[in-house]
Amino acid sequence: MNILQLIQKRYTAKKYNADKVIPQEKIEELKEILRLTPSSINIQPWKFTFVQNPEIKAKLASVSMHNAEKINQAQLLIVFSVADDLDAFQKVVENEFSQARIDWYNKIKSSSPEADLKIWLAKQVYIALGVGLTASIAMGLDSTAMEGIETDKYKAILNMSAYKPLFAMAVGYGADEDSNRIEVTPKSRRLLENVIETI
Ligand SMILES: Cc1cc2nc3c(=O)[nH]c(=O)nc-3n(C[C@H](O)[C@H](O)[C@H](O)COP(=O)(O)O)c2cc1C
Repeated sequence: MNILQLIQKRYTAKKYNADKVIPQEKIEELKEILRLTPSSINIQPWKFTFVQNPEIKAKLASVSMHNAEKINQAQLLIVFSVADDLDAFQKVVENEFSQARIDWYNKIKSSSPEADLKIWLAKQVYIALGVGLTASIAMGLDSTAMEGIETDKYKAILNMSAYKPLFAMAVGYGADEDSNRIEVTPKSRRLLENVIETI
């Protein structure tokens, strides 16, 4: 299947087959794929928390609004978080990056209000969601992007301090009876001529 066919095939899973096990190699591959996500000035201000432990997953499901059932059914939940404590992230930048990148980040930081800097950092994390959704279907897995979660409660359950959860992605095998399957609910998008401009 080429990339267009994969993108046409992917859909947001609303129900998962809880019994079909994801091979662990695929999960390890997904970790490496997310690590390789591109970002502005290669800043990588993220943490990807892979939750396979059913008890922790159930706790997170219980603070996930209308998404609770799918999180309990899906075998994997990935929580996408952004650097939130900027002093702690400064240490990350200084310890893990080259001098050129440190200088670049410091320049951006000193010329932006803190709120704008945080929005810019969070935007980078969303790029990883696109990568993750696309990678999942390419690996034969179904997925659900979810902003419908209580991020403050996620932060407490996951004991995070320097990072803040933004959204999550459930991954697994979609249930046959899911009415959102592409065979039942065709893709719905704005017309190409209304969203693409060719000059
Ligand atoms: C950032 C983001 C957040 C989303 N949050 C949720 C969510 O909380 N629960 C859910 O069931 N679907 C969620 N969705 C799925 C969208 O509703 C879905 O992608 C859109 O309707 C297009 O449908 P498709 O993914 O099946 O092509 C989210 C999608 C994105 C990209």
